[in-house]
This record gives sequence, structure tokens and C-alpha cells, in this order.
Amino acid sequence: MMLLECFIFGMIASLITGARCKVTEVFAEAGSQAVLPCKSSSTSLASPFIIWSKANKGTIWRKQKSGLQYWGSSWSQKGIQRVQCPNSLFERGDYSLHINNVREEDGGVYSCSVENGVQVVENVVMLRIMIVSFSLSVPILGKDVSVTCNVTPWPHGASVHWMLNNSPFVPQTGISSNRDTSKIVVRVKATARLTGNWTCVVGYKGSEGRASATLSVKGIIKPPNDNTKVYASVGSAAALPCVFSNDLVPSLPVWEKLQPGSLFKPAPGRLPSSFSPSSQSSQLAWDKSASLKAVEFKDEGRYRCSGTVQGQRLSRNIQLIVAKIDSSVPSKKKGSVTLTCQLSDASEVTDYEWVHVTYDLNGTQSVGFIQKGKTLSISQGSEENQGEWACRFSGKEGILGNVTYHVQLMSGLNGQKSKGFSHNTAAVVGLSFLLFVLLLILAQMYKNHQRRKRIFQYPALETIVHTISNEREERERNRAKK
Ligand SMILES: *[C@@H]1O[C@H](CO)[C@@H](O)[C@H](O)[C@H]1NC(C)=O
Ligand SMILES: *[C@@H]1O[C@H](CO)[C@@H](O)[C@H](O)[C@H]1NC(C)=O
Repeated sequence: MMLLECFIFGMIASLITGARCKVTEVFAEAGSQAVLPCKSSSTSLASPFIIWSKANKGTIWRKQKSGLQYWGSSWSQKGIQRVQCPNSLFERGDYSLHINNVREEDGGVYSCSVENGVQVVENVVMLRIMIVSFSLSVPILGKDVSVTCNVTPWPHGASVHWMLNNSPFVPQTGISSNRDTSKIVVRVKATARLTGNWTCVVGYKGSEGRASATLSVKGIIKPPNDNTKVYASVGSAAALPCVFSNDLVPSLPVWEKLQPGSLFKPAPGRLPSSFSPSSQSSQLAWDKSASLKAVEFKDEGRYRCSGTVQGQRLSRNIQLIVAKIDSSVPSKKKGSVTLTCQLSDASEVTDYEWVHVTYDLNGTQSVGFIQKGKTLSISQGSEENQGEWACRFSGKEGILGNVTYHVQLMSGLNGQKSKGFSHNTAAVVGLSFLLFVLLLILAQMYKNHQRRKRIFQYPALETIVHTISNEREERERNRAKK
């Protein structure tokens, strides 16, 4: 059809001298302004006869030599003309047609004719309107969405490629391109990575057209990915984030702890004792973040936050990694302690470093003595080693967290403890001795008592014995007197 137009224009033009025929390709994004060029090289002072028309739609604008103008009625919208030819450009021989707020139906063949005395300039312009659209205006994360690039009329043989956030988007597996007569479609699964500005770039006969649209995906935006790792140290508080898109209030929000080794099965046990789900009234309705007040080492593992949005269950898995410091006293080195930085999952940790944290009177923290490595050996007795020691662990992207150990407190306790031990030992030994003596005395008393009891069992015998002995004594006395 376009060629036919050109042919017709060419025929008309050939009747008059100096005619040319050339098709200019113009791409315009729907809603923008399209500029259809029409230039005359002649610089005659006389006002030319200009006519712009669209194939099948008749005259758009006509200006007679006398200056009389005619505007096609179909180009005004509520009394406002969508088309114009800026007067200011006429003296340079530029009679370009400007179309504001172009629509899909504006696509097609336009022609411009400038008749200046004996010279007639014919210009044919092909206007192609581009639109990028999505099958769902705001898709929910994980749902399929197709991105469509419409070009009206479609340039057969054109090259098409996509840009996502200004970098080339290379379709991967699961993304299909479907080329039919008027559009190109890319099917993708809505993920956070695919949000942003989608641009369709069409190249055709040396000119290029672009159209863009922004895809915003709704769902759980924080954390953006599954299996996000959260680091916490034993005894500290930990936050488990779970934030849905603004104004996306999930129904039936649930937090679960997953069975070790399983990605989906909730653990039969309950959530940790210090776990508290979102319930603060200050929290926004789409923020379902939870927290642990005081993390214990056994709280490590996978947690799942889920909620229902538009009939679809959305969930996010978060891994809580707990850090602690194990201390051990080597048998041969008295007074020293070996500290080991332990993490429930150290797979992302590339570096450990130990720092000595001190606080001045104002409570300002300062950090000194840095040693690399997972373990640290220090002497507990020395004054300068007292205070807080922190093990900082970091991964590829920087510091992941830290866990602290207090030496001053520990060495103090140890001193007291060991002294306490010696006191106790002395006391125990003393008491045992006393008890032993007491027992001996008791045993002696018992023995005496028993003997006496045996004698008292025979009181008559005792009397006889007594009388006999008395008589014997008297006889002996009498004998002595004699
Ligand atoms: C504590 O703060 C005060 C004022 O803020 C300052 O003058 C003083 O030097 C600080 N003391 C120490 C030990 O840093
Ligand atoms: C340890 O982590 C806490 C919380 O992130 C931070 O405030 C503190 O400065 C860190 N301590 C050290 C020694 O890096």
C-alpha cells in the first residue's frame, strides 16, 4: 500500500518537473509527539502551496498561496488541534507536521506536497506507532507476565531487541519470543529482578524506534530473595524481615520454623520462646516482620513468612545464623584463654577478625588490636586484655556481623572462683576432722554406756560381790589390828 501511495505520488509528481519520491521512516511512541519531516530546498520568496494528507484519511492541512488554511476536522480533540505546522519554520523551507499525543491509529502513510512555482516537492512519510505493554498491570511475584512490543504498522524484516533498565535483556530459558504480524511478545515469570524499565528497540532501514514501559511487581519486597541470611549473636535481638509491597495487605500471615534440611516442611516444634510475630500497632499492615528478643544458639535455622494476596499464597524463607564464642582454657598455659568464633552456618564467611573494644568515660567506643583468624589466644590476667573482645565475621560483600566476649568479667569471676575453692576445701577438711573427733567421742561414750548397762543387769550379783569385798576388807583390817 505504501509503495502504491508512493507510486501514485510519484506519478502525479512526474507530471510536474523536479519531482522526487522517497519514503521516510518515522517511529513514535504512543502518547508522544511525532514529527513528520517535509522540506523544500527552494528559497523562493513567494508563499508556496502546501498540502499534508494521510492515506485513506484525506487532507490534514492545506495552505494556499493566498495564505488561506484548511484543517482536517478529524484531527481536533475537544477543540484542540492535535496537528500543527509551526509557522516559524516556514522561512527555512521546513513544513514538518507535528502530531501531538499520537495513538496507534495514527500509524500509516502520510504525504506532503510543496508546490513552489514550477517546483513540486513530494515527501512520503511512514509513521509507525510503538507501544510496550504488560499482560498484567501490576503482576504478583511469581506469576507469568508477557511483555508486548506493538508497532503499527509492523515493519517486516525489522530487528527487535529488548533493554531492561538500560542494559540489554537477553531472553533466558523460560522466556519465549513470539513473532507475529504486528507485535513481539516476551513471556517471563515476574520476579524482582525483572522490575523496572522495559524498552523495545526496533531497527528498520537505518532508523530506530524505541518505546518503554515500567514493570512493577508486587509481593514480598523485603527481603527480595529467598534464603536470605540474617546473622545474630547469642543473647542479642534479631529481626526477621518480611515486608509486602505498599498497600498489599496479606491475609492469614503466618511465621513458621522449618525442619532442618527441608525447604518447605514446618518443624513440629514451636517457634523459639523469645520469638514475637508482628503485632505492634505502629507497624504498617503490609509489614509482617518478626523479631527474636534474645537469640539462643538452638534458634538457628530456616524460618518462613507467608501470606495470601489475591488468592495466591506468597512466602519467603529466611535463614537465621547464630554466632557465639566458645572459650577454652588450655591445660598447659595457665591464665590464658582461647576464644573461638562459632557460627551455625559459616558457608558465606570468608574472614574472621578479632578486635578489642574499649569504652572511655563518656561511653564512646574505640576499637583496637586487630587479629585475623577464627581463634584468639589471650592472657586473662593481664590488665590490657580486659574488656570486650569482638569477633567480626565478613563475607564477600563486607561485614556480616559480630559477637562479643567480656574478659574482665570472666577473669574476675575465675579469680573469685578459684579462691572460693580453696576456702571451701579448708572448711570441708576442718569440718570432716571435727566430725571424726565427735564420732570417736560418741563411740567411746556409747561403749562406756554399754558396759555399765551390762553390769546393771545383775544388781544382786553386784551386791554380793560388794558384800564379799567389804567383808574381806574388814577381815584384813582386823588381822592388821592383831
Ligand atoms: C567526654 O565528653 C566531654 C564533652 O563532650 C569532653 O570534653 C571530654 O574530653 C570527653 N572525655 C573523654 C574521656 O573522652
Ligand atoms: C557489632 O555490631 C553492632 C551491631 O551491628 C555494632 O553496633 C557494633 O559497632 C559492632 N561492633 C564491632 C566491634 O564491630
